[in-house]
Amino acid sequence: MNIMDDTLSRPTLKSQGLEVVLSDGAAHYFNYYWLRDNCPTSFNTDTRERSFDIFHLAAAPRAESAEVDSNALVIKWADEDHVTRFPLAWLETFAKGTPRHDPADLPRSAWYGDHYPQVPRFSQPALLANPALRAKWIEAMLVQGFTILTDMPDSNEGLTETAEMIGQVRPTFFGDYFDVKTHIKPTNTAYTSAALELHTDTPAEEHAPGVQFLHCRANSVQGGESLYADGVAVANDFRQRDPEGFKLLSETPVPFYCEHDTYDMRSRQTVIELDQHGEVSGLTISQHMLDISDLDQALLDRWYPAFCRFGKMLQEDKYMMTFLMKAGECMVFDNHRIVHGRAAYSATSGDRYLRGCYTDRAEMRSTYRALVSEGRFKA
Ligand SMILES: [Fe+2]
Repeated sequence: MNIMDDTLSRPTLKSQGLEVVLSDGAAHYFNYYWLRDNCPTSFNTDTRERSFDIFHLAAAPRAESAEVDSNALVIKWADEDHVTRFPLAWLETFAKGTPRHDPADLPRSAWYGDHYPQVPRFSQPALLANPALRAKWIEAMLVQGFTILTDMPDSNEGLTETAEMIGQVRPTFFGDYFDVKTHIKPTNTAYTSAALELHTDTPAEEHAPGVQFLHCRANSVQGGESLYADGVAVANDFRQRDPEGFKLLSETPVPFYCEHDTYDMRSRQTVIELDQHGEVSGLTISQHMLDISDLDQALLDRWYPAFCRFGKMLQEDKYMMTFLMKAGECMVFDNHRIVHGRAAYSATSGDRYLRGCYTDRAEMRSTYRALVSEGRFKA
């Protein structure tokens, strides 16, 4: 790349773009389509969306002339009566082709079986009243994946207003909300008083819901301890302990199902989920809903032992957080990261009633960004 001596010298026009010297003293290349499409005038200040239509340009965009004026790049376009002005500082954020900074892309912090006293707790009425506290809550969700809300109103609306602090209530094929108590003719093991092995919810959905809310309305039964483990903690340790098994579980999509008289939901998911950095971001796991595998039987010679090694590890005391939920609490957790289950309970010993719903992970990140960042279009 040609380094120019005089930072105020004219940008160098090329066939498909131009080079302009930025504050690091180096010339940086920008493509003409990109420059024209992202001209500040391309965006409607009311809708905050791009209103310029690049498909309707008669010819490929090309600069007739360009200059640096008052720390801005000014381009006069050929074949068009239009001038674009970009602050150089703005161009610098795109000069190296690095992904845009995302305040919601926070490193995860793994937690273990002794975590219960340190679980971030927030009073629900305080969250409703305080946007800064909501940001702290969502940050804890992004970093640790598990929080407990206290002082919940004993009402259906209490759960709705709680979920809506993160996003829209996200239906599944079971509906908008679910009630966990013993059912006479259960369609799901959750609706019995039997033990529930560690799992993530609705793995058979193509996009299983990201954030789960479990509002404890009553819990006076004997037994029924809640079990939670951090899938990130277990999978990160599994990666060290069993690299071959980790590769199989993070690269092999396996079938999940949920089937009854009126539905036949199917999906394929990897048991271990990786993010864009290659870091473990979660799990999809449920022995109840793992379908009869149609994978090559020779592949299963390797996959099944790895699955069992991982499943046994998931149940180690080191990872298992066990406690009794109290009425008035709401567990909020990342359904793709935190596996949950419960011990068996005696259905006749008292009441146990949980009401639950979901929102999406992407909406949670969106709400967080809106709470903590300036945004590009805010007045
Ligand atoms: Fe569940």
